[in-house]
Amino acid sequence: MTQIRHAGTAELRIGDKTLSLPIVEGSEGERAIDIGDLRTETGLVTLDYGYKNTASCKSAITFLDGECGVLRYRGYPIEVLAENFRFVDVAYLLVHGQLPSQEERSRFSELLNWHSMIHEDMRHFFYSFPEHAHPMAILSAMVVSLSTFYPELAQNSPEEEIDMATTRLLSKIRTIAAFSYKKSIGEPFVYPRHDLKYCANFLNMMFSSPVRPYEVKPEVERALNVLLVLHADHEQNCSTSTVRLVGSARVNLYAAVSAGICALWGPLHGGANQAVIEMLEDIQRDGGDVKKYIERAKDKTKAGHAPLYGFGHRVYKSYDPRAKIIKEVYANVLKAMEERDPLLDIATELEERAMADNYFLERKLFPNVDFYSGLTYRAIGIPKSMFTVMFALGRIPGWIAHWREAMSDPEFKLQRPRQIYVGPLRREYTPPKPAKPARRGRKAK
Ligand code: SDX
Repeated sequence: MTQIRHAGTAELRIGDKTLSLPIVEGSEGERAIDIGDLRTETGLVTLDYGYKNTASCKSAITFLDGECGVLRYRGYPIEVLAENFRFVDVAYLLVHGQLPSQEERSRFSELLNWHSMIHEDMRHFFYSFPEHAHPMAILSAMVVSLSTFYPELAQNSPEEEIDMATTRLLSKIRTIAAFSYKKSIGEPFVYPRHDLKYCANFLNMMFSSPVRPYEVKPEVERALNVLLVLHADHEQNCSTSTVRLVGSARVNLYAAVSAGICALWGPLHGGANQAVIEMLEDIQRDGGDVKKYIERAKDKTKAGHAPLYGFGHRVYKSYDPRAKIIKEVYANVLKAMEERDPLLDIATELEERAMADNYFLERKLFPNVDFYSGLTYRAIGIPKSMFTVMFALGRIPGWIAHWREAMSDPEFKLQRPRQIYVGPLRREYTPPKPAKPARRGRKAK
């Protein structure tokens, strides 16, 4: 990791005291005030809802520039990676910091193939979930269960063991995801195959069956690779920060990632891709009245108010670079599947209207990664209940990379934010007076 630079000081005046706080600068010129000594020096803490102004760590994994719509993994622009590399290459890059050599790539593929099956005893877990169980609940439960079958990583585990755990999780989560889908439709599990690559194997486990062979279309395999690359990391988003926070208690990788899966499930985060499709389906059922849903999203007092899912972002105040790429991928999949999706017309009108509406423009609310990803998964034939699982499948290498970076950070600390208490002041407890004994002959009330 390149070292952080000192870039002057910030003066903070509190009463008659002036405190000099160091300003630090990262490799891309981002600057922060280091408040590490603030409470010791002043007794004060900072208050920052949603951590909108707070950096929780230094990281060398992903760089985002929300104003200019820039996204780079380990320095490589997302557009270059999506165009030229497969998901497995990008997963290796995120976790190890470099794109794999030919030899590293074949070793990595060998390990991914070797680890693609789950322990046979784990198959039975699926039968204990009710039919309607959401696949994200299953995914989180199955991932944390991996820690009961495989050795937990210790803080200073050798690189080889960490590589083993990384490929194990990256490979088995694909099988767990496909098995949870098969379970939800009452079909038998389809096992991974040694002759199929990562994405083709997943598609085959999802859609093949003993009575219906499935042919992996190259355009669909390509689309899935691009989708997983685009979702692979996004610096300190909610679920990645969850993995780092839970990991800071020194739990094992599987437990930290299982917590990240639960955070991703939320409709304001990774669950938005499912919420986008449900919103488009609502509009379709409602006669295609896009304007009504836009007005509702703008007015918090309106009955049924909900944000326009797939729009807005904590960091991107410009068009999400991933959304641009997914829009093209989606068009290619529709062509390959010779499909026409009526929801696309609604989505196109929704984007056009929102992008012409001052409410959205003033607040810099543009389409984000979730706006077109759900439509693309739908065109591939993936059911909407699995959309957020697909997001998790993509995000696994990012979560693993951040967990490893945090565990090996020399300035690592247990994450434990402070608060500002606004509850009752000290109250004395006055025990209730003992009830008077009832007078003889008269019943106690
Ligand atoms: C992901 O962090 C990441 O990197 C996440 C992610 C990743 O790769 O990990 O990129 C993936 O989570 C993408 C976001 C998916 N979520 C959605 O599409 C849900 C809809 N979006 C909103 O809920 C919202 O935009 C957030 C939660 C994504 C971001 O909200 P912020 O940064 O907390 O901004 P805010 O709520 O303070 O919004 C500022 C204003 C508010 O209005 P006012 O108080 O100024 O009147 O904009 C409004 C908000 O009400 N607003 C929206 C809106 N998003 C924000 N109004 C209508 N529709 C929206 N979508």
